Amino acid sequence: MQKLLVQGGYRLNGEINIGGMKNSALPVIYATILVKDECILENIPRVSDIDNSIEILRQMGAYCEFIDTHTLLINTKNLSSEINGFELISKMRASSYLMGTMLARFGKAYLPMPGGCNFGKRPIEQHIKGFEHLGAKCIEDNGFINITTNKKLKSNKITLDKISVGATINIVLASIFLDGLTIIENSAMEPHVDDTIRFLNMCGAKILRCKSRIYIEGVKALHSSRYRIFPDMIESLTYMTFLGICGGDITLVGVKYEHIKYVCDIFKKMNFNIDTYEDEVRARVNEQVEGANIITAPYPLFPTDLHPQFASLLCFSSTGGTIRDDVFPTRFAYAKELEKMGANIERIENSIKIYPSKIHSATLDATDLRAGAALVACALGAQGESIINNVNYIVRGYEDIVGKVTSLGGKIKIIKET
Ligand code: EPZ
Repeated sequence: MQKLLVQGGYRLNGEINIGGMKNSALPVIYATILVKDECILENIPRVSDIDNSIEILRQMGAYCEFIDTHTLLINTKNLSSEINGFELISKMRASSYLMGTMLARFGKAYLPMPGGCNFGKRPIEQHIKGFEHLGAKCIEDNGFINITTNKKLKSNKITLDKISVGATINIVLASIFLDGLTIIENSAMEPHVDDTIRFLNMCGAKILRCKSRIYIEGVKALHSSRYRIFPDMIESLTYMTFLGICGGDITLVGVKYEHIKYVCDIFKKMNFNIDTYEDEVRARVNEQVEGANIITAPYPLFPTDLHPQFASLLCFSSTGGTIRDDVFPTRFAYAKELEKMGANIERIENSIKIYPSKIHSATLDATDLRAGAALVACALGAQGESIINNVNYIVRGYEDIVGKVTSLGGKIKIIKET
């Protein structure tokens, strides 16, 4: 296993490129299953969830090659109707998009229940509700899901009981070729949902969003396209939390400000100076940040994927604050790691209260992707040298975090387990 070695106490200054959005690139990669032709996808982040998804498609007969560092060519013309790569599938949440795509293309899908970050239950009943409303039969058996249809699927109106990114995307994918109009009510509005819709429409699909309602008019087939993935809003916001802890002056290049405006408005109230130009955001922090109280919620409000990193930021703030996670109420595994660094924390159900803390270095264990980013954040502000184990979690979603932090003046490096 690899570890990160972080020497805290250095300000961050300079410019970094923000990569493509992992949580868009993943559904778009699986959506190429619906295009029996060549697709070229630009701004694909080089992170392990992407590599694993490419490997799953390759094992099913797709042709997938990077034609440059971040541009991926995929052709699923010869894809098998049988899903392969069960071990990889059970490690990732994004592999759940095999359900909607294989159902749409082959009328069936048999695969392990999807995995994903281990911060609590990851149910899929909303996905199943959608598939069954379209006429599919879904049976969960011994850790596997078997989706079949004994007749052609039919378009329908589906009202989701919970706002779910994955279920919204999966129902869009499953309904692409259905005669008539499928309507999804109470759909997720995250940018990665609309990124996937834009890709599908570039390939000839007919999908329209009106606020939280999505209309999908069935088409006969999709054609090849070249598509550029949106920039990663969570990567941008994660580096802003690093800045808030370390102080300094950084410019993030290749950002869609509209995707991060809600959180940046909170940062501004915390003493961040933030200026935006076209696709760049410059942020400066010259004094200790103020505290804040936040509640996570579906887009466009505060994203749950920034919760752990924001908790680290509050440790260094002048007044601390509270975080209530209404999306993933048990996403608090990072808290005990922050306490190892001296964080003064109180846990109350799905909330955490963080007091201004005197943070020192420690040896830490990353427990999931965003918790790992939170530990990097805290270590960058801690006095002394910290070690972070289980780097594999962090590289799932942050391309070249060592190179980017180092280029900004942070002291961080990967060391091999001795
Ligand atoms: C996506 O997960 C992201 N993952 C998550 O990011 C992100 O935290 C989440 O959306 C919320 O924004 C990917 O895109 C690969 P949901 P997803 O379905 O689709 C409940 C990261 O760090 N729910 O929107 O699984 C669910 O338990 C990862 O990049 C049901 O109850 O999230 C949660 O409480 C972590 N039943 C809420 O809805 C269902 O059938 C939102 O989940 C589906 C979801």
